[in-house]
Amino acid sequence: MSKKPVIVFEGIECSGKSYHIFNVAKYLKKRKIDFIKVREPGGSFNSEKIRKLILDKKSNFDKITDLLLYLAARSENIRQLRKFHKKKIILIDRFLDSTIAYQHYGFGIDIKLINLLNKIILKEFKVDFTFLNIVNKKNMIQRLKERKSQNRYDNFNVNFYQKVQRGFMKLVKKNKKKYKIINSNLPKKHNQNEIIQSIEKLL
Ligand code: TMP
Repeated sequence: MSKKPVIVFEGIECSGKSYHIFNVAKYLKKRKIDFIKVREPGGSFNSEKIRKLILDKKSNFDKITDLLLYLAARSENIRQLRKFHKKKIILIDRFLDSTIAYQHYGFGIDIKLINLLNKIILKEFKVDFTFLNIVNKKNMIQRLKERKSQNRYDNFNVNFYQKVQRGFMKLVKKNKKKYKIINSNLPKKHNQNEIIQSIEKLL
C-alpha cells in the first residue's frame, strides 16, 4: 500500500481554509477515497475539550498558557492520528504552522521553545503538503463582521492577523515545494479547482 499523505490547511481568520478543507473532504467522499479530517485545536475527544477552554471568550490565559494548551490539544490529537498515519489520507484544519505563525510571529514566543515542544509531541509524524490560504485586509474585515459565532481568537486587532499572515508567508518561503498559496481574494470556484488539481497529484 502506498503511503497516504498528511495535508494541512492553514491561514488566518476568514481566509477560507475551513471552506476548502470541507470541499476536499466532499470530493474524496464522492470518489470513495478513505480519509480522516480533523481540526486543531481539537480533533480527538480530549482535544476538543481543550479547544473549548482556549477559545472560550471568558478565558483570559496569558500567551504561554495558550501555547501550552494548544500543544496539549495537539498531543492528545496526535495520539489518535498516529494510528492512521500513512494508512489513510489525513486532512488537518490548522497544525504546526499555526503555532509558529500565531504564538511566535504574532505573540513573540521563542521559536526554539515551540520547535522543541512540537518535536517531542510529533516524533516521526510529518506534514506532507500545506495549502496556505491568504486574505487581504479589506476582505478580512468584511468577512469578520459577517461571522456568526466568534471565539476568543476572532477579536484581535486586524494588524495582528496581518502580522500572523506575514509569519505564515515566511514559513512558505523556507520550503516552497511543500506549500501552495491559495489567494482567497480570487473567486472560490477558481481556488477550489486549483486545490483539487493539487490533491490529485498528492494521491
Ligand atoms: P479556528 O480553527 O476556528 O479558526 O480557530 C482557532 C484559533 O486558534 C485561531 O485563531 C488560530 C488559533 N491557533 C493558535 O493560535 N495556535 C495554534 O497552534 C492553533 C492550532 C490555533
